[in-house]
Amino acid sequence: MTAPIIINEVGLRDGLQNQPRLVPTAEKLALLDALRAAGLRHFEATSFVSPKAVPQMADAAALYAALPQDETTEYAALVPNRQGYERARAAGARSVAVVLSCTETMNQRNINMTLAYARRVSAEVMQQARADGLVGRAYLAVAFHCPFEGPVDPAVVRELAAEMIGAGAREIIIADTIGAADPLHVARLFDLLIGEHGAAALSGHFHDTKGLALANCFAALERGVSKFDASIGGLGGCPFAPGAAGNLATEDLVNMLETAGYETGVDLDGLAAAVAVAERCVGRELGGRWIAWRRSQAARRQNRAAS
Ligand code: COA
Ligand code: ZN
Repeated sequence: MTAPIIINEVGLRDGLQNQPRLVPTAEKLALLDALRAAGLRHFEATSFVSPKAVPQMADAAALYAALPQDETTEYAALVPNRQGYERARAAGARSVAVVLSCTETMNQRNINMTLAYARRVSAEVMQQARADGLVGRAYLAVAFHCPFEGPVDPAVVRELAAEMIGAGAREIIIADTIGAADPLHVARLFDLLIGEHGAAALSGHFHDTKGLALANCFAALERGVSKFDASIGGLGGCPFAPGAAGNLATEDLVNMLETAGYETGVDLDGLAAAVAVAERCVGRELGGRWIAWRRSQAARRQNRAAS
């Protein structure tokens, strides 16, 4: 029996941050309830960023205060700088993630910092988290391809990963922010990083822009990676990265993993119900391939019953 795969649900943060409709805190909590009912236990709940930069996350502290707590559910918050870290800690966050892009331009567009400055700030936040007894994690964004600078040198990713681990990060999340990676590229980069830090210190975050996110996850999975980000209904996209389409849909990932014999602890019927809640939050239809298949099955059954 293989160890269960951990799915970190990022719909509440990466998924909602780019949505034009401001989703009230109560609706975010209702979505969280549906996701927990489906069996998900790891969440990126929000980000403590500038409300001017991302108005959707302006309720971060109020949301954190209202998160249902139990022994098995873990929440994380994204923090771009020291101020974000302090806000997250004050709100009761026990796990924080910094977001360090692998290129100069992406850091400037996303967090208004040079690469050199973003490295320093991210390292300081990781050190502070360690000193305060919080779990620190580091996203390496645009780890494969940058919308402004093109292909990213794996040596840069390797250097930044080592720096963040050295500063106290417990986990490095390799992010294909715009969905430009392919499975071979993923395999090579993860081989490089696993050789240095081990698979347990790594996680994958793949956007599904060109339909390769599942294949990319599988490439990392085959190398022993057991943690992946995904977003309910494929919700998502980065407001600062042109071309970033939705995340890999949680239900597509769960379906692939369960079909391939991996344990996730997540129930697909429950995820279908959560997709419906997410659709109400954003006011439009969502869902990856699995939802489309499920809906076509249901329509066929209805047609049969009606004829
Ligand atoms: N939370 C809330 N407010 C913050 C903040 C934080 N983490 N960091 C800075 N601010 C506020 C400052 O208090 C200041 O407010 P004021 O204008 O009322 O005085 C204002 O933002 C400007 O501060 P400054 O330090 O100059 O920030 P900036 O304008 O250079 O913006 C970031 C830097 C990082 C705060 C901003 O780019 C940001 O929040 N980016 C988020 C990007 C993101 O979420 N991307 C998607 C996820 S990958
Ligand atoms: Zn993302």
